Amino acid sequence: MLPKDLLSLEDLHKEDMEEILARARFFKEREGKGDHSSLKGKNIVISFWEPSTRTRVSFELAARKLGARVIDYVPDAGSEAKDESIEDTIKTLTALGADALVFRYKLPGLLGKISTRVEMPLISGGEGCYQHPTQALLDLFTLQEERLSLRGLKVVMVGDILHSRVARSHFYALPAFGAELILVAPPVLLPLELVPPGAEYTFNLETALSRGDVIYLLRVQQERQGKGLLPSLSEYASLFGLNEKRLSLLKKEAVIMHPGPVNQGIEVSPGAISYLEAYQPDKLLLQKQVQNGVYIRMAVLDLLLGGRG
Ligand code: CP
Repeated sequence: MLPKDLLSLEDLHKEDMEEILARARFFKEREGKGDHSSLKGKNIVISFWEPSTRTRVSFELAARKLGARVIDYVPDAGSEAKDESIEDTIKTLTALGADALVFRYKLPGLLGKISTRVEMPLISGGEGCYQHPTQALLDLFTLQEERLSLRGLKVVMVGDILHSRVARSHFYALPAFGAELILVAPPVLLPLELVPPGAEYTFNLETALSRGDVIYLLRVQQERQGKGLLPSLSEYASLFGLNEKRLSLLKKEAVIMHPGPVNQGIEVSPGAISYLEAYQPDKLLLQKQVQNGVYIRMAVLDLLLGGRG
């Protein structure tokens, strides 16, 4: 049985993730075949204290597709500006009739600390550098949809591991399904204590690229870089960016993923993107990841709010 909240994939068993993936598949296959109103009458509050396009919009679409009312609560305009604590804000939202809170928050773990004192499901849309569970789930869904067997799949994850909540969720998601992780980053963005058991790591992109069935590029989170952590973004791009020359190192069947938003010219060069779009569009899974986010978020809302209609 799924836990009340979705805060970290560490809290889920493989069977829980499989249940969410199966439910997402059900919703995707039903697309266009009539309404599915399992959450009719429910109030879902979406509160993002950090910027987002994909996650926020897809949660909103997901809630509406299931017939729920969506309250887009903009924290800056609310009582946080008057120093109300998050816990008090959540109690206020509950009193107002909220049935679930989907949130993005900069301080990791805060919502987890108060979750036992809150009755409604708390659903993470990404917490600081902590976890982004629905992103990892939609990535699994996308890979399965590509008919890629996850067992033994080699995923080369490149980039800002240090600040990546996506990577931290994948540390529980991909190995649970038998995929193998190869982490690649400059040493300042890849502290060895972060490398999960069983994963490989290297500071050399070229040696890893040719081994990957999936090349998963992570966004360089410029807003979270400590002063002087990266000497320069152009140096990062030259050593760790995917460019046209490095495309020739990829396996013929390798696919490329990125959680978005992409920093073009840093994680991947504009030339590499143009080449792939023109000649190997099937390699790029970025838009499929975005689209599948809606179905994964429908599945999460439906299951956590007891829809299962
Ligand atoms: N992948 C992701 O979290 O994107 P957004 O920041 O646009 O939600």
